Amino acid sequence: MYISSQSPQLAHKLTSGIDFHRSGRQGLMAYIIASTNMKGGVGKTTMTVNLATCLAKYQNKRVLIVDLDTQISATLSLMPPGEFANLRAQKKTLRTLIHEGVRGNPKLADLTRDAIQGYVCNVPNLSLLAGDIDLYDEFLVSELLHRRSVQQGRSDEFEKVWNEFEVNLIRDILGPIGNDFDVIILDCAPGYNLVTRSALLASNYYLIPSRPEPLSLIGIQLLQRRIARLKETHKDNPAVNVEMLGIAFSLSGNIFTGRYHNQVMKRLNDDFSEVKLFKTKIPVDVNISKAVDTYQPVVLSNPSCSGSKAFIQLATEFTQKLTTVARINEPPSNFLLSNLGD
Ligand SMILES: Nc1ncnc2c1ncn2[C@@H]1O[C@H](COP(=O)(O)OP(=O)(O)OP(=O)(O)O)[C@@H](O)[C@H]1O
Ligand SMILES: [Mg+2]
Repeated sequence: MYISSQSPQLAHKLTSGIDFHRSGRQGLMAYIIASTNMKGGVGKTTMTVNLATCLAKYQNKRVLIVDLDTQISATLSLMPPGEFANLRAQKKTLRTLIHEGVRGNPKLADLTRDAIQGYVCNVPNLSLLAGDIDLYDEFLVSELLHRRSVQQGRSDEFEKVWNEFEVNLIRDILGPIGNDFDVIILDCAPGYNLVTRSALLASNYYLIPSRPEPLSLIGIQLLQRRIARLKETHKDNPAVNVEMLGIAFSLSGNIFTGRYHNQVMKRLNDDFSEVKLFKTKIPVDVNISKAVDTYQPVVLSNPSCSGSKAFIQLATEFTQKLTTVARINEPPSNFLLSNLGD
């Protein structure tokens, strides 16, 4: 379904009565949503930043975007490179938080609050935790964990130590700030790296931005399988409880899209319940790619173009879905990330 007529005013009217912050929640923690797809260039980051901006601007939600990709596309969609360079020089990027988290710095919460940039693109409720072109050194992390497991007399349990590290890496950063936001959206890199796995393990839901193409179908199946395996690995940890929120499509400009589109959609409808497929699809719109030059999401730089209207509609659907799943899945009592031990 193409939606091109919804105004920001209508979006606000449709969603202002939906307060998922209170509707199904016992605590006041943010919903953490990982935006992920192993396939590259499918519009993950564009969807993340526009969705987040719509939630903040038109629905009054307190939203944090966390850029987990070393390509830092989300960061550079929201601020000029000079501003990012300043943040990096001041050690206010995810790199520092990962570094301090790995070292077990007790002041991690303060460092995280300090690194978060508020009022992003002049939107009062929109915040960003900037990514970095270099997040961590895998060799040094492995060495440190190995040393730690030896010190703890658990050298024969290295895999367990690694799994504990994986589950806590992103959790430790987000746990203390969960009360400060309604929604935290994690923009994951393509592929399936340590940070993506840790992001999924810290999330309540994952969103799969995709293109309705045959190869994307395979990518979704692969991702589903990997997430199932990840959950299996951590099945003894009751805090790990990530579920799919849905699959949202940006349309490909490929000339074969038309021919394959129905076939792909039929297959998806066979594989996933209707509720998991977002009805709103983001059309190809040159204004969306041009917005990157303004260091603002298109919903701010050109709110009346067809792409922006679709993102506003998508944000309405997102909130409705989140409200529905929140009612179905009562929030886990262990939702307070900050209460989790190692
Ligand atoms: N609906 C759209 N219409 C036109 N251009 C789009 C649309 N969605 C995304 N783009 C453009 O496509 C390119 C890839 O988008 P984006 O960076 O969001 O994908 P990604 O999946 O995050 O990529 P990566 O896997 O590298 O992180 C960008 O140049 C973006 O501006
Ligand atoms: Mg991206």
